[in-house]
Amino acid sequence: MTRTPVVLGVESSCDETGFGIVSEGVLLGQGLASSAAQHADFGGVVPEIAARAHLDAAVPTLRLALADAGVELGDITHVAATSGPGLATAVHVGLAAAKSVAWSLDVPLYGVHHLAGHAAADTLEHGPLPERSIVLIVSGGHTSILAVGDLVRDPIEHLGDTLDDAAGEAFDKVSRLLGLGYPGGPAISRAAAGGDPTAFSFPRAMLRQGDAPYTFSFSGLKTAVARTVETIERAGEAVPVADVAASFEQAVVDVLVTKAVRAVRDRGLDTLVIVGGVAANARLREAARQRCESLGITLRIPPIRLCTDNGAMIAAIGDLLVRSGAEPSGLGIPADPSAVLHGAQLPLLR
Ligand code: KG4
Ligand code: ZN
Repeated sequence: MTRTPVVLGVESSCDETGFGIVSEGVLLGQGLASSAAQHADFGGVVPEIAARAHLDAAVPTLRLALADAGVELGDITHVAATSGPGLATAVHVGLAAAKSVAWSLDVPLYGVHHLAGHAAADTLEHGPLPERSIVLIVSGGHTSILAVGDLVRDPIEHLGDTLDDAAGEAFDKVSRLLGLGYPGGPAISRAAAGGDPTAFSFPRAMLRQGDAPYTFSFSGLKTAVARTVETIERAGEAVPVADVAASFEQAVVDVLVTKAVRAVRDRGLDTLVIVGGVAANARLREAARQRCESLGITLRIPPIRLCTDNGAMIAAIGDLLVRSGAEPSGLGIPADPSAVLHGAQLPLLR
């Protein structure tokens, strides 16, 4: 008799150490630790500090996940780990931990793509994805519009990516220049509450006729915010931080929602899925909800705790791979810090 799969997911690509346990599409429990506070003074993630923090947090966080799920380590039947993309030193720590667990339990190991994990996170809350959907991934390192079928069986088609900064990166950079600290997304959101999103008319890049329909660019927006702040400061006036933050947020949200909805309609589909750290943003969630509601598009966004990096999403994609009968990656799987998203599982590099 085959055992019901109980999949352990391991995430360590940036500053979150995450372990999640998923069985047949159900999240049993998870543990999460973050080194974000240790990076705050530097305005961004310092890879060496992140790697060291993963090493410190690995065992206690795994213990938390097991306790939360109410399972023993010996109940784990499969292990999945982010093997890319991410900060090389950070990915190495989680992947090494995952290899140790898989080897000691003598269970299969899957090296998975971090961004496929973000998409899979939504299935924990809303069930399997429809036959075809558009997925907008908005994270600290990536911004892409994808045409997705079966997350683990079908190739993932990139309709458009960002030419420069990712959406989350824009939040982090603008937060730094407004003196709001790291991570920038939540800090900007807090500052923007009560601000006027129409106070400044920041550029909406790549929305003109003739621009690539699904491609993003956020570096000009960041520069425009920097210039505005400089001009105000040079005039000896106080920067209206709430208004600048709200106007910046609105500019990002307008472009993201316009392009993602356009992709859904152009492809004749009816489902939009928004995932990744920036999907935690309240203004984005509300704007997407309104736009999708008015157009009859089904909108799926994971709950906030599953938008930012976590181990549950890696367990979720691992669980889908296991149930689809995918071949395990094996203990030889290397880290691939700059892996491009073509499928859920990363190929063995030679
Ligand atoms: O997906 P994620 O946790 O890590 C990566 O894979 O990069 O995304 C992190 C990014 C950071 O840039 C952070 O500033 C942004 O997500 N973020 C947000 C919010 N929460 C996190 N951006 C906007 N609004 C938020 N509430
Ligand atoms: Zn992520």
